[in-house]
Amino acid sequence: MKVGIGSDHAGFELKQAIKIYLEGSMKIEVVDYGTDSKESVDYPEYGFKVANAVAENEVDRGIVVCGTGIGISMAANKVKGVRAALCYDPYTAIMARKHNDANVLAIGARTSQLENALAIVGLFMKTDYEGGRHQKRVDMINNYPS
Ligand code: RB5
Repeated sequence: MKVGIGSDHAGFELKQAIKIYLEGSMKIEVVDYGTDSKESVDYPEYGFKVANAVAENEVDRGIVVCGTGIGISMAANKVKGVRAALCYDPYTAIMARKHNDANVLAIGARTSQLENALAIVGLFMKTDYEGGRHQKRVDMINNYPS
């Protein structure tokens, strides 16, 4: 499993913490697509970078972080093949994987405490897609012309 991560300035510190958690505790390889500081940048750039890496199979999954997680998830979802889910608690992280086969996790750095954010990351990584009746719906998303 290889995970691509990216954030804007608002998500930078949480992105760094997520990177340490993935590499240290979860033993997951991480590719960091930036940003590299708290200097102001535009979140779509980093949402697109991570989403393109997922769509092109450079990485297996992505994690994107901005202030709320909203803008960067909107950007990631513009990339065909990407199903980005903005998760804010353990339940949404589990369901994003089980029912939606989400391949990108979006988190809000200004809306999630560190412990909650890392729990979301852990569950997103560990939870398998259920398939079955959900596949038709995921296919409808995948096949929408864009
Ligand atoms: C940056 O101030 C903020 O707008 C951005 O991080 C994000 O929350 C947008 O959705």
